[in-house]
Amino acid sequence: MDPAPPPPFLVALTHARTHPVVPEIRLRVAADTMALWEQAEEAMAQRELAPPFWASAWPGGLALARYLLDHPTLVVGRAVVDVATGSGVVAIAAALAGAASVTAYDTDELAVHAARVNARLNGVDVAARHGDVRDVSAAPGTLVTAGDVFYSRDIATAMLDGLAMLAACGCEILVGDPYRSFLPCEHLEPLETFDVSVDVSVESVPVKRTVVARLTAGGDTGATRAPRGPDRNPGGARRRAGSRTR
Ligand SMILES: C[S@@+](CC[C@H](N)C(=O)[O-])C[C@H]1O[C@@H](n2cnc3c(N)ncnc32)[C@H](O)[C@@H]1O
Repeated sequence: MDPAPPPPFLVALTHARTHPVVPEIRLRVAADTMALWEQAEEAMAQRELAPPFWASAWPGGLALARYLLDHPTLVVGRAVVDVATGSGVVAIAAALAGAASVTAYDTDELAVHAARVNARLNGVDVAARHGDVRDVSAAPGTLVTAGDVFYSRDIATAMLDGLAMLAACGCEILVGDPYRSFLPCEHLEPLETFDVSVDVSVESVPVKRTVVARLTAGGDTGATRAPRGPDRNPGGARRRAGSRTR
């Protein structure tokens, strides 16, 4: 059965753009995230809709997407599961890099729609599904990806719990993250860093140093610093200008 079509505002209020870090991938992003958020709440008759994280590509996901595209041997012929997919940028990169299958999960139903729309835009197959990382299961040997998911204590805890369970089942876990406050550095084996251009109004800086790393174990994130980056109020659209440096 075909999945339900996306709500019209999801396409009407976004534009297809590329980011210099992954010029191979086009994503529908919001020109004005706050306006999109308000209109989405109105269209869906919901006052407390989650922020439209799916209408931006976050530095963690962009760096991870770049890494997969640059290291196809990691991906070719494998099953890939992208959790917290948002726009689907990492899932799309995995598909472009030659994954045998790509499944993307997000707790936000609109992100599931966005990942489907963006996968179609890039001509790749991504099975996008509603799902919490803690409920996701995958066969041993699956490559599990998670971009920019350590931005709040609760979400980082959920992510680490879910990802640790997947690792215990024999999955390989890769994360991309701009050193958010709850990044569990003690459980990471860094692979590569990228300097990713971002929207100053969201991140307070024009460029975020972003790490792609293998998650080696789970555990308590233990961080106490104030969260930055994505929060309840994304604070506007991310600027697509700027260039990647490594
Ligand atoms: C900052 S966005 C990152 C999106 C994308 N990975 C990227 O890098 O562009 C974080 C995403 O995590 C999703 N999320 C939060 N908690 C989750 C959970 N427990 N399980 C699955 N997804 C979750 C949110 O809905 C949101 O789409």
